[in-house]
Amino acid sequence: MTNSADTRAQWGTQSGFILAALGAAIGLGNIWRFSYVVGDNGGGAFLLIYFAAIVLVGLPLVLVELSIGRMAQREAASAFWHIGRSVVWRGVGVLGVLVSFVILTYYGVIAGWALKYFVAFSAGFYPLDAGNASTYFHAFIAAPFEPVLWHGCIMGITVCIVFGGIKRGIEQANKILMPVLAVIVIALAIHSLTLPDARRGLGFLFVPNWEALLQPRVYLAALGQAFFSLGLAMGVLVTYGSYLPKHHRLPMAGSIIAFGDTLFAIVAAVIIFPAIFSFGMSPAQGPGLAFVTLPEIFIRMTGGQIVGVAFFGLLVLAAITSSVALLEIPVAYAIERWALARSRATLLIGGVAFVLGVPSSLGFGPWSGLTLAGMPILDAVDFFASNILLPVSGLAIALYAGWHWREAEAIEAVGFRRRWLARLWRISIRYIAPALITVIFLRSLSII
Ligand code: TRP
Repeated sequence: MTNSADTRAQWGTQSGFILAALGAAIGLGNIWRFSYVVGDNGGGAFLLIYFAAIVLVGLPLVLVELSIGRMAQREAASAFWHIGRSVVWRGVGVLGVLVSFVILTYYGVIAGWALKYFVAFSAGFYPLDAGNASTYFHAFIAAPFEPVLWHGCIMGITVCIVFGGIKRGIEQANKILMPVLAVIVIALAIHSLTLPDARRGLGFLFVPNWEALLQPRVYLAALGQAFFSLGLAMGVLVTYGSYLPKHHRLPMAGSIIAFGDTLFAIVAAVIIFPAIFSFGMSPAQGPGLAFVTLPEIFIRMTGGQIVGVAFFGLLVLAAITSSVALLEIPVAYAIERWALARSRATLLIGGVAFVLGVPSSLGFGPWSGLTLAGMPILDAVDFFASNILLPVSGLAIALYAGWHWREAEAIEAVGFRRRWLARLWRISIRYIAPALITVIFLRSLSII
């Protein structure tokens, strides 16, 4: 069952579409994940490689996905079928829809933590004695009910927005939330630059440490982060592209999305690293950076409560515009393939995602004895989604576009005006992207 193109929902405006796509890309990945990956991988050199990953693999794939969606005017799974006419390509699409659903289940859990911290800082009940941020965090995530409650709030908000549809729900929410996000991120960055040791933080971030270039794991981390941050291979750009009118050209929109997402991550790092160095913390703290190290800093900083409110508010808003996209992908699938009304599809899928996310949440507390492949449930689900499902579908999409699509048709679909740009895109999609993704995949499974 597919809806005919003329009854399908569409974005109201081009800027609304770009904001919504940016909202999907900018999320926990840009603030929480990016900062700890930069910290773990030595700073400056990582940034350089990350930028290369965005240009060589990220942007070309963004253009592929947007153009497949825009051409097919269908949700992600059917879009691949429509263009490729084979079960294999439909499989690629279905996999993308599935991955976004899987990510949604635990993304909501972490977004719930951010919401809890936002409320705790706003209401002033975050304990303001230095030295206990870690105890507080671990006691909170280990509680049986509280994290599930916050997780439920996030899913509730997400469902309400997706319920409203493309124009009145998703586009409208992004039009309001994204400018707020931009203002907070700029204000926080300016504040961080005034801290006493801001220079050292900036040095860590921007002065490349050339030795890191010799380490293969830095390249792998950069490519993995680029995939996650752009939301590649998860059907989001296909789905969002499918709500564009057919004549739309994409190179400009794709570049704004890819570079906007990167810029946001860098500005978020400009908030975080000067603070870390000014308060004598270590940049390589792993995933606890946002929920342990930063609150510890906020407690000690003058005006730290306000900074805490702004920072966790930022995290919550960024997470919501992404969870909306993560939900919209399977919802679009259910609407078009199971012929469900949007209201039912949203409630059904949002509800199931919430329920399936509960074990991820409980995995830090009552169910911590339960592990999958030696990891807590949330980490195991993340590992499975990011390190196994994503590279497989990313590789398939690159191979599909590079080798299955006829060159003239592909270039026409993206809407390139400059011949040399089209050639570069083609080379990247045919050779560079598949080769790099293959290396990452084999490496993440420790095969090479
Ligand atoms: N890009 C989002 C972030 O940086 C996370 C994400 C991954 C995502 N895959 C997605 C968002 C698919 C929307 C759709 O946090």
